[in-house]
Amino acid sequence: MKSIKSLAYQVKIGNIYENIYSKKNMPMQKCRNILKNDVIGTLGYGPQGRAQSLNLRDNGFNVILGLRKGNSWNAAIQDKWEPGHNLFEISNAAKKSNIIQYLLSDAGQIELWPEINPYLTTGKTLYFSHGFGIVYTKQTGIIVPPNIDVVLAAPKGPGIKLREKFVESNGKHGVNTSIAVHQNWSGRAAKRVLALAFGIGSHHVFETTFKREVYSDLTGERCVLMGLIQAAFKAQYDVLRANNHSPIEAFNETVEEALQSLYPIINQQGMDWMFRNCSTTAQRGAIDWSHKFEKVLKPVIEECYKSVKTGKETKRVIANNSNKNYRKNLEHELNEIDNQEIWQVGKIVRELR
Ligand SMILES: NC(=O)c1ccc[n+]([C@@H]2O[C@H](COP(=O)([O-])OP(=O)(O)OC[C@H]3O[C@@H](n4cnc5c(N)ncnc54)[C@H](OP(=O)(O)O)[C@@H]3O)[C@@H](O)[C@H]2O)c1
Repeated sequence: MKSIKSLAYQVKIGNIYENIYSKKNMPMQKCRNILKNDVIGTLGYGPQGRAQSLNLRDNGFNVILGLRKGNSWNAAIQDKWEPGHNLFEISNAAKKSNIIQYLLSDAGQIELWPEINPYLTTGKTLYFSHGFGIVYTKQTGIIVPPNIDVVLAAPKGPGIKLREKFVESNGKHGVNTSIAVHQNWSGRAAKRVLALAFGIGSHHVFETTFKREVYSDLTGERCVLMGLIQAAFKAQYDVLRANNHSPIEAFNETVEEALQSLYPIINQQGMDWMFRNCSTTAQRGAIDWSHKFEKVLKPVIEECYKSVKTGKETKRVIANNSNKNYRKNLEHELNEIDNQEIWQVGKIVRELR
């Protein structure tokens, strides 16, 4: 990212300096100028494809969509994309655009690769929002030609928030994004992906690599963001219930207080502030037990990270996706979570808020 270093400012965290790019240093007019000769083709209209293409369109970039007929196509028409004008079948959009935003589902990216590959002619840019396809290339079969740019802009939040925050703030703030360059054929890949990251609505942009993005993302969702949190909520709820606490009491002390009171405080003021502003009884207990939990959890998170790094996790994801019964089995697993007493109580308690 040497070519864009002059646009960055640094923050020091311990002994580490991190580069941060602010929209102030690359206003939207400048971003539009950098990409003034480009047609951006967004393939896919899931949460990311929808949010990124609409934000780019609202910011004045030349965007077209590439979708198959069906749900996404119909959703795009609802959002005023016009067939034959800026809405096309996938291969047609890939042919017409010189920046291809590859935002199909990760499984869809693998399936459609043979169809997209021929349109990646000299000088085009292939854009991802996840390192999956490129990092696990042996598993995905996504092997890029050498004469194109390959970049990543991964918003640090779900697509729904990317659009919601952009609309709420009148285009001022979306969700912040990490960028990376895998292949810099043009010599301008970093500047171009930075312009795209601001174009999709970010106001601050961080640096990453395809590997660092995918390893941290896959570990995060398996651990603290989703897997671990479901396990922690359920384990505590079950212990309270086994000791004769009522369902509502067990839910309140496990989930309700966390989501309604404490986590928003951590979000707004930090963990230390939350600890500082609770009772001494809570403080003493929480600090002491936090060390014990860290000792138990760290080896499990390390095991998970290793499994991500060695490709074991993605191998399982890809194998599952190609199983014809995957959707049906998944539905069964999700219903199991829904039927757990804790989440049934959740429905009742949410009604009482
Ligand atoms: N979800 C997030 O918030 C998030 C956050 C950061 C990064 N990302 C990354 O962004 C990318 C897109 O993710 P997403 O969550 O927005 O989308 P998604 O829900 O995973 O994918 C949905 C889109 O892919 C299309 N699709 C799937 N298989 C296809 C196939 N075989 N042929 C044609 N179209 C196909 C769907 O079309 P149909 O409607 O026609 O089925 C739909 O438009 C992924 O690489 C993901 O890892 C996602």
